[in-house]
Amino acid sequence: MNNPAQFPLSARIFHWGMAALIFSMLLAGLSMVQTLQAWHAPIVAAHKFFGVLALIAVIARLANRFRFKSPALPADLPAAQKLAAMVTQALLYICMFAMPISGFLMVSASGQGINMLGLFTLPPIGEPSLVGYSFFRELHAITAVLLMLLIVMHVTAAVYHGLIRKDNLLRSMLR
Ligand code: HEM
Repeated sequence: MNNPAQFPLSARIFHWGMAALIFSMLLAGLSMVQTLQAWHAPIVAAHKFFGVLALIAVIARLANRFRFKSPALPADLPAAQKLAAMVTQALLYICMFAMPISGFLMVSASGQGINMLGLFTLPPIGEPSLVGYSFFRELHAITAVLLMLLIVMHVTAAVYHGLIRKDNLLRSMLR
């Protein structure tokens, strides 16, 4: 099969839709430290609901990812940069799974379920556990920091390809 010049529409919708969702989730998560604000409870409820959607979206995205061949990296890209791109992408996928799963397990360990817009409640998994709660809360926060670093690297690389190298890489995800 020849290398395509761009990502298929389904991959571009997943990419930009999830970028917006994850960026909003990170901002909402960071704002939630202000526990005395009137908007704290609705933001936490929305964060949990959209976090479950993010997990469903990343499962669907990964399944979709196996359906097509992605455009090759520029042939003249140094091997170290190709390796860095592959490692960053793999870590981004790991974080996209680890964020919602650790959030869900943290809330489960606190003994709460997740209210899905009042339609139904996802029950907690396992028994309430203080040790489990602290562990998954820490994991959720550490993964969030790692995810933010990876996003900065990913965006920097995209801008470098689009504005400095002026190769096809950024275009392949835009149109
Ligand atoms: C893409 C998915 C998610 C992202 C990017 C995300 C991001 C964040 C961030 C940045 C924080 C602040 C961490 C800190 O500095 O302490 C946070 C906190 C939190 N998240 Fe998430 N989250 C996601 C999914 C979820 C899910 C699915 C749940 C639960 C169902 C959840 C529940 C919580 C709770 C309860 C807190 C507050 C922890 C505390 O300080 O007590 N998150 N999240």
